[in-house]
Amino acid sequence: MQIRRASHSDLEAITAIYNEVISNSDAIYRENAVPVSERIGWFEAKINDGFPVLVAVIADQIAGYGVYGNFRFGEGYNQTVEHSVHVRSDLRSQGIGKAILSELISIAISEGRHVMVAAIDSKNLGSITLHSKFGFTESARMPEVARKNGNLLTLVLMQKILNYE
Ligand SMILES: CC(C)(COP(=O)(O)OP(=O)(O)OC[C@H]1O[C@@H](n2cnc3c(N)ncnc32)[C@H](O)[C@@H]1OP(=O)(O)O)[C@@H](O)C(=O)NCCC(=O)NCCS
Repeated sequence: MQIRRASHSDLEAITAIYNEVISNSDAIYRENAVPVSERIGWFEAKINDGFPVLVAVIADQIAGYGVYGNFRFGEGYNQTVEHSVHVRSDLRSQGIGKAILSELISIAISEGRHVMVAAIDSKNLGSITLHSKFGFTESARMPEVARKNGNLLTLVLMQKILNYE
């Protein structure tokens, strides 16, 4: 498996992974699949802001991707990033999520980021376990902040402090 920076040619595969997660889970708080053009806008905004978009590649196929960006607006938050990781459904539980998250953490450290935040649906035990293994701890649990397909959802914020000053 190779982890590398994403390019425009990866966006069709990234969109397919994103839409599968929207359709079959509560991991993304959106209800409707998006066109590739929406992910092109997302990708270009991340790149223009200097944030990493990574893909995991196995046998020339995109197996998953990871990204981070601003946690909240305002320069006071510049050292904090919020990330996400998604793995193609047929390739989960094979270490790909771990590999992507590990690389995102390395990049964040090399950029001098101080805190990484993961916003995870409270029922997403796979992601909560993954993040716990990397030293993320729960810092907030926000009941009913979202609704998807009629169901109220609870968001868990997990964070990891990268560099102690
Ligand atoms: C969550 C996700 C990114 C994890 O990636 P993955 O490649 O499946 O996970 P890995 O194989 O790297 O597993 C990493 C660790 O997470 C834990 N884990 C992963 N999936 C799990 C599951 N379904 N249940 C419990 N623990 C799980 C395991 O403890 C594993 O560690 P181990 O291999 O030492 O046992 C992936 O399953 C995914 O894309 N899920 C759908 C979208 C999603 O939930 N994204 C995260 C949004 S916050």
